[in-house]
Amino acid sequence: DKGEYRHFMLKEIYEQPEAITQTLAGTLGDDHVLTALLGPEAETRLADIEHVHIVACGTSFHAGLVARYWIEAQVGITCQVEVASEYRYRTVVVPKNTLLITISQSGETADTLAALRFAKDQGYLATLALCNVAGSSLVREANWRLLTHAGPEIGVASTKAFTTQLVALLWLTTALIQARGGDKQQIITNINALKSLPGMVEQALQLDTRIAELAERFANKHHALFLGRGTHFPIAMEGALKLKEISYIHAEAYAAGELKHGPLALVDENMPVVSVAPSGSLLEKLKSNLEEVRARGGQLITFACERVEHAEEGTAQTITLPWVEDCISPILYTIPLQLLSYHVALVKGTDVDKPRNLAKSVTVE
Ligand code: M6R
Repeated sequence: DKGEYRHFMLKEIYEQPEAITQTLAGTLGDDHVLTALLGPEAETRLADIEHVHIVACGTSFHAGLVARYWIEAQVGITCQVEVASEYRYRTVVVPKNTLLITISQSGETADTLAALRFAKDQGYLATLALCNVAGSSLVREANWRLLTHAGPEIGVASTKAFTTQLVALLWLTTALIQARGGDKQQIITNINALKSLPGMVEQALQLDTRIAELAERFANKHHALFLGRGTHFPIAMEGALKLKEISYIHAEAYAAGELKHGPLALVDENMPVVSVAPSGSLLEKLKSNLEEVRARGGQLITFACERVEHAEEGTAQTITLPWVEDCISPILYTIPLQLLSYHVALVKGTDVDKPRNLAKSVTVE
């Protein structure tokens, strides 16, 4: 039931504060995370994990890409992320003590499930399914499980499933730091940031009207570029996927530093460039990349932290979000990109909840 909402997608975007709250329920102490939900075997073996491989498709793959930044920076172990349709058909080298994580909203995606089955004989320490459906094939067949509690997601475009996957992955990152006796301050920072997240997402949702106005500018465009750096590069990828999926506008994401290595040639006044540019050490670099776009007449839309100054010149527009800790920033900046694709699709009059050619659960290969 869509209730007061025009589409399931919009309802699901607005359900995110609650979905995040449900996913975190009973998992956080004041200065430690509660790992019992992983089961006794997983709890005792977390400390042995020295490498992580993550396998998934589509939006779930993007969640894995964000987790790589967290795991390598905060836990200090290697993390590799791959789309399931590639992983399952190649020769994979699995170092000793590697955890395989498969991520899937539905738990029925054919390639992800096949990847899990393939992984069974590859000598992993264990396989873990991160999933939104408790009774799914993926959860049944993995050694360990970590469930998101987003509730049913009906819209083909994944929204609340993605943000809750990120929440679960930051929680898991924190559990790995804890198991290895790592940085206590980082554990506390992550916990407090996660606790603050539902309120921050509420604030980001208030950008709805502003973003709806912006969307008008997109409707007659055929292409768009999305830029980000660091953990926000996969968020740019997710923003581009969402726009393609429901508005049928061709969109591509680039790590902002790659712009001058090719895609800058595409930029003119017909090319909106959306950048995800929160504060943080990479912002200054991103700013100079954005100058290159502005100088070429590109329409620039920047989502940035309210504490950072951005000049509004000509066609450039900046939409600000509240300051948050770096670790949850990629989750927060997902919200305006979801709203942007939703409103562009509305203006274009596409079938938001059931975009052409796509199925909610891709159970064929
Ligand atoms: O159910 P899954 O998370 O395994 O689905 C994977 C992809 O098919 C899915 O994320 C797809 O990319 C979404 N429609 C994107 O919005």
